[in-house]
Amino acid sequence: MRAEDTPLIRLEDYRPSDWLIDTVDLDFVLDAHETKVRAQLGLRPNPAGQPGSALVLDGDELTLVSLKLDGTTLDAAAYSATPQGLTVLAPPKRGLTLTIETVLNPSANTKLMGLYRSSNVYCTQCEADGFRRITYFLDRPDVMSVYTVRLEAKKAEAPVLLSNGNRVATGDVAGTDRHFAVWHDPHPKPAYLFALVGGTLDHVREDYVTADGRKVELAVYVEPGKSSRAGWALDSLVRCMRWDERVFGRNYDLDVFNVVAVSDFNMGAMENKGLNIFNDKYVLADPQTASDGDYASIEAIIAHEYFHNWTGNRITCRDWFQLCLKEGLTVFRDQEFSSDERSRPVKRIADVRTLRATQFSEDAGPLAHPVRPRAYKEINNFYTPTVYEKGAEVIRMLKVLIGDEAFKRGMDLYFERCDGTAATIEEFLACFAESSGQDLSHFARWYEQAGTPTIVASGRYDAAARSYTLDLAQSTPPTPGQPQKAPVALPIALGLVGKAGDLPLHSNSNAYAGDGLIVLDQPSLSVTFTGLDEAPIPSLLRGFSAPARLELDLADADLLRLFSADSDSFNRWQALQTVATRALTSAGRGALSAAGLADKATELAGALDAFLRDHALADPAFAAQVLRLPAAADIAREIGRDVDPDRIHAAHRALSAQIGKTLADRLSSLRDALDDKSLYSPDATAAGRRALRNEALGLLATGAPETSARLADTQFSAADNLTDRLAALAAMTLIPGEAREALIRRFAERYAAEPLVLDKWLMAQALIAEPGTLGRVKDLMRHPTFSLGNPNRVRSLIGGFAANLTQFNRPDGAGYDFVADIVIALDRTNPQIASRLLGSFKTWRTLEPGRRGLAQAALTMVSRTPNLSRDVADIAERALA
Ligand code: PHE
Ligand code: ZN
Repeated sequence: MRAEDTPLIRLEDYRPSDWLIDTVDLDFVLDAHETKVRAQLGLRPNPAGQPGSALVLDGDELTLVSLKLDGTTLDAAAYSATPQGLTVLAPPKRGLTLTIETVLNPSANTKLMGLYRSSNVYCTQCEADGFRRITYFLDRPDVMSVYTVRLEAKKAEAPVLLSNGNRVATGDVAGTDRHFAVWHDPHPKPAYLFALVGGTLDHVREDYVTADGRKVELAVYVEPGKSSRAGWALDSLVRCMRWDERVFGRNYDLDVFNVVAVSDFNMGAMENKGLNIFNDKYVLADPQTASDGDYASIEAIIAHEYFHNWTGNRITCRDWFQLCLKEGLTVFRDQEFSSDERSRPVKRIADVRTLRATQFSEDAGPLAHPVRPRAYKEINNFYTPTVYEKGAEVIRMLKVLIGDEAFKRGMDLYFERCDGTAATIEEFLACFAESSGQDLSHFARWYEQAGTPTIVASGRYDAAARSYTLDLAQSTPPTPGQPQKAPVALPIALGLVGKAGDLPLHSNSNAYAGDGLIVLDQPSLSVTFTGLDEAPIPSLLRGFSAPARLELDLADADLLRLFSADSDSFNRWQALQTVATRALTSAGRGALSAAGLADKATELAGALDAFLRDHALADPAFAAQVLRLPAAADIAREIGRDVDPDRIHAAHRALSAQIGKTLADRLSSLRDALDDKSLYSPDATAAGRRALRNEALGLLATGAPETSARLADTQFSAADNLTDRLAALAAMTLIPGEAREALIRRFAERYAAEPLVLDKWLMAQALIAEPGTLGRVKDLMRHPTFSLGNPNRVRSLIGGFAANLTQFNRPDGAGYDFVADIVIALDRTNPQIASRLLGSFKTWRTLEPGRRGLAQAALTMVSRTPNLSRDVADIAERALA
């Protein structure tokens, strides 16, 4: 496949399907190599479609065994079937039943789409268009059907047989070693939410009663022997179900809810109705094999998939252009849940870090696209940070703009009005326009326009008039296909900080919405605040109220005052980050001397010292965020052109080394004060203390390597949990030498039987910022834990390497060639994983000319490879355009 030959699918071409499928009866006889599928589809003409149309069903690599219409075998001349589709040429213009038999080889399915095997477990993945790899179907989200599924398998091979909905029958197949189960899902759903699981699995379970009185059996299924690691996922499930009842008024709607963990999975997890299937990385947890970060992501992803039951399943998407309708909204919901379960400011900081690292960089490069794309060649390439994370930011802005009350009423209206339908962004927004009485047509631009807006802000104080005027302007750089940008509606939450804290805000300006909110919806505007007896320092974009870059005309000294005095925690954190970012961008551009950078380091160390002294122990989780400097990749993104990764890395190391050295005593005593002797607990408070202690270790690793190496070694031996051992390993990777290699070996021995832990070990080594890393990564590809067939292994080792700023971007281009070769090899077995990996090239145009040329050559080599998948061809084409 060459990308040029692939049709472009456009939003404006949407039209309803000509047929509907009301009922689907599926019968699976599971076999490792020859699974038989009989699908009985209850079809009728769609009143909204073209009358009298041929019946055209989607397929993907299918083998048709037989075909019947209303029980009678169809004449060969009456239809045409290929692996890619089935057409019934002149179907009767009425309701009819089509019975389709196909045969599948799940063991040969390396794409992990459709029915496949993961460590001997049969499982499925159908989003976005994997159902057509099981049977011929109208594989589009606006065709919703009621499913009944019969599964049959050898008892010994698959004692557990699961599908969507409620189990309605089970039994033995008389005279055989086989058994069966029948599942019925009363809720109409699109095919992408179909799932089945068959295999030998252990489980943990719990009874749950919903707020509206329904008894639900909850269960989490895992590989045999691992049920002791399933408790946290189950606990998270119960908590998020209660939360959704309380906060969004949403109750669960079936008698069972099952979660199954599998070890081969392309994504994080999947919200199949009543049967969520998870990458085991986001289910399995115990203190020895999961880090604090893992516990937090498990909680968040369990919640995310569960929340989809309403935002995604009950209300699904009309077409894949509306993907953000379910994903952005559901990310917003899981972020809110985690904020309520943990620390809201710390969660916000973590989310903004991710947003900037992944989405801002996407928005700044050739793969930029709107939250709702207008066209695509391969939908799998649009499960992106823009659709997910920026999509969530858009919901958050909507809430800020219309207020909590109107937002709540709008959500209630949406649940009521759109329940059971396949909806659009327009229908969603209409609910909020109605609940708030506001015209949201300007706001809707957030869905259409790609790119990260920049807000330029400057202010002046007029002592005589006792007033302060803020001048604000916005602009958005061009993105592919969108050379001209219109202004968007930017909610700017703000405060004016005086000597004794926040000053009262009085303004008659139109753009001032009250309650500390300015709405910047024009190219520029000014807002004057009155009644001010002192010159304030503006604190803008509090809580990161809009996904924008802020260029603020404030001296570092003022930022450092905000760092100590702002009432908004997010902006306290941001102020220090901004000072560090400014210094590092100047140094990374070669515009700030080593001596100049050293002066900044002294200033930052002073501010941090006072902060740690006064606040570290009161809120360690927040302090850990403060202590973590912007990453070198953040600086590269800020610089944005002619990037020299080595110079940025050197500046980054120099700054953290000096801060670490200056604060060495403070950091060491802080570590002692945070050394908890109590038993490990994954709760946010305990995790926050570990986070700060380990952040301190990381700073010491660059600032006082000898001390740090000793500390890391002791910590590794003394630790009773993975978090502390991993932090020791990470710190040690910053310190070249035999001690590092010894710790790397010890780690591997200790966790030899734990692939998910070894993933972190692979990643830690792939991220080492030294020229030897490429060779090390190549060696690690021969380590017994590694396999190109397992997405988690590939993401850890190869994805880790591709995220290594200095080594992926080696000046000799060997990093690019290595990753490009792997993309090509992987494309033959798993195109989705290959195309995600190729996405690592998305910032190639920002590099200095030498590296830019080498990256372009590697990309071109990929794009010219014969028989590329649509996935990889599409990314290569857009990256080079
Ligand atoms: N819909 C899943 C989620 O975000 C993600 C996913 C997409 C999983 C495509 C598999 C395939 O919850
Ligand atoms: Zn999702």
